[in-house]
Amino acid sequence: MTVTKGRVTKNGIRIFETKDHAGMFASGKLAAEILDELVPMVVPGVSTGELDKYITDRVEASDATSATIGYKGYKHASCISVNHVVCHGIPGDKKLKSGDIVNVDVTVILDGWFGDTSRMYVAGKLGRKAERLIEVTHDALMLGIEAVKPGNTFGDIGHAIQTYVEAQRMSVVRDFCGHGLGQVFHAPPNVVHYGRPGTGPVLEEGMFFTIEPMVNLGRPETKILGDDWTAVTRDKSLSAQFEHSIGVTADGCDIFTLSPAGLFHPTYG
Ligand code: MF3
Ligand code: CO
Ligand code: CO
Repeated sequence: MTVTKGRVTKNGIRIFETKDHAGMFASGKLAAEILDELVPMVVPGVSTGELDKYITDRVEASDATSATIGYKGYKHASCISVNHVVCHGIPGDKKLKSGDIVNVDVTVILDGWFGDTSRMYVAGKLGRKAERLIEVTHDALMLGIEAVKPGNTFGDIGHAIQTYVEAQRMSVVRDFCGHGLGQVFHAPPNVVHYGRPGTGPVLEEGMFFTIEPMVNLGRPETKILGDDWTAVTRDKSLSAQFEHSIGVTADGCDIFTLSPAGLFHPTYG
């Protein structure tokens, strides 16, 4: 892999070239395809470890590597976060039950480019409150993405997400954020999912980053369990998350991790 040369802004944000979007589209598509393939597998009785095993094998079979295996000592190809787990759930023997809501987060490296995406799944029958939470979280991400164009700021993205979520009487998690990415996993800036319009770095064509809001039905506070990874809501309320990797274009953005099968938003019923 050749590291892309080019400019870094005063905030430390790399500006990529037009041709670099192709590498991100390829890695983003692979990550999204893997998430598509999981849809029929997320059913009551399956363990999160079995889902992770599928992902591990699929990444390997695609001449790609997992960005998470070996990352700060993490050992798995995905994070699988069930119900009140906010993020960084560790796959294991726990079997899904009907009504569980599940976020699967996958990051692959293909030809040196990072594709990072997560979405919600439902095992069995979906409850009404959970359905509403998933809907609001998905729409919050898409509203954040709509705020992405040169001249707007990162604060505009956070503001779009926060105002929408709070108007639905849900809360935005503060303790985790999106991030720049490209040829590394986590780069500047921190993309927070709350904020004031016009604040933060100005968006420029060629910036690549994730938006990945976590939304809780209850309060926003989280805590980390004794395994040093699993983040849960302090009040045990349900939490949801969606994540796309995107790149700023001349008049908006490219979404690198769109679902090839159109399965990003879970279909109900
Ligand atoms: N994919 C996560 C993100 O969206 C990071 C997971 S790091 C891990 O940034 F080590 F927990 F896998
Ligand atoms: Co991410
Ligand atoms: Co992710």
